Amino acid sequence: MSDPVLQTQNVKFKYERNTPDVLDDVTMSIERNVKTAILGANGAGKSTLFSILNALRKPDSGEVLYNGSPLSYRKKNINRMRSEVSILFQNPNDMLFRPIVEQDVAYGPENMKLPKDEVQKRVDDALFAVGMSEFRKSPTMKLSYGQRKRITLAGVLAMKPKVLIMDEPTAGLDPQMACEVMEIAEQLYRSGVTVIMSSHDTDLTYSWADEIHVMRHGKCVYSGPAEPFYSDKVEVYLSGLMPPMAFVMNEGLSSCGTVEREPFPRTQCQMSAKIGNSKASAGTLHIIPVEDGSDINALIDDNGFGDMTTGIYGMSARRAQDSSKARIDFVYNGPENCTLKCLSGSDAVLFCDPVMVESARASADYINKGGFADISLDIRN
Ligand SMILES: Nc1ncnc2c1ncn2[C@@H]1O[C@H](COP(=O)(O)OP(=O)(O)OP(=O)(O)O)[C@@H](O)[C@H]1O
Ligand SMILES: [Mg+2]
Repeated sequence: MSDPVLQTQNVKFKYERNTPDVLDDVTMSIERNVKTAILGANGAGKSTLFSILNALRKPDSGEVLYNGSPLSYRKKNINRMRSEVSILFQNPNDMLFRPIVEQDVAYGPENMKLPKDEVQKRVDDALFAVGMSEFRKSPTMKLSYGQRKRITLAGVLAMKPKVLIMDEPTAGLDPQMACEVMEIAEQLYRSGVTVIMSSHDTDLTYSWADEIHVMRHGKCVYSGPAEPFYSDKVEVYLSGLMPPMAFVMNEGLSSCGTVEREPFPRTQCQMSAKIGNSKASAGTLHIIPVEDGSDINALIDDNGFGDMTTGIYGMSARRAQDSSKARIDFVYNGPENCTLKCLSGSDAVLFCDPVMVESARASADYINKGGFADISLDIRN
């Protein structure tokens, strides 16, 4: 059943008079707790749309609805809405408010009038999540672009929003941090936050989003699952996009008769399993929930996991790995890499935040349901 959290109805917007509309009759519905990606070429209107969704700008005509009610644009209502709907700007320089890193990250929680201890904890957790704990006393303006981007992400994480709009969250980040940002987005989603993301990286959004909206010259030209859109080559071209690699490879291999077209593989692991289709005896994927203070070395020893490939997944798992100094094979893309290991007949163990277990098993489920191999799952409580 449809349960929209944010909607636009016939929204029109232009920055200056006597210029074309930058948003041209945009009607769009963003569903609660559906992983949503907004796609479109440079200048298509994605960032402008986000500023309208967050009430930073007001439509010239049409309406924006939050939880089914039209935005009133009164200061009190807007402030209340913004305490729930956070936006991560494309350019970090647009959202650094204070000169020192920890002060900047504390800005949002302090404005929410939270107790000092709670502000401190949120700042600590958010800085750890973005790998910037050691920079807490640094001046923000002396950080690199990517580091500043991490700080702005920490700032929105510290606000614990119900809806998080991320405008190009991985652009300008190194590949490991880009991977972590996607993991954070997944964890927020699993914790009940509605995450909306724009990105030019169609591989990345294809592997993550359940629903896409495509913007073109200020109009929303497609809303729905990714595959029907990418199947229409002309629409993809006209929208200034490129289809994701997994989609293109699957189209090619299915037209050669090597694989069936469906189920569509969305990740490298799923693609490998589908092509390999080994049906040989696969290994077992052990998924072990861990918390912040868990001793990963002890878990490895106590369970006899010493010879197995290991991976971590989730923010608490990262903290546990950091504090226990455990030697882990796959610190990034843990579920995918551990599942690939199982495909080759070996066993693997993934230390994972409890809230991420369902995400962690997604690749193995795809493989087992598709009949490409039979990976045993050992999911502990
Ligand atoms: N502050 C502004 N003043 C005037 N015009 C603007 C302003 N910001 C954006 N525009 C124009 O609005 C249009 C849409 O821009 P927008 O930034 O929303 O696109 P986008 O889809 O986010 O692009 P990108 O992929 O490059 O981030 C562009 O033609 C741009 O030139
Ligand atoms: Mg933009």
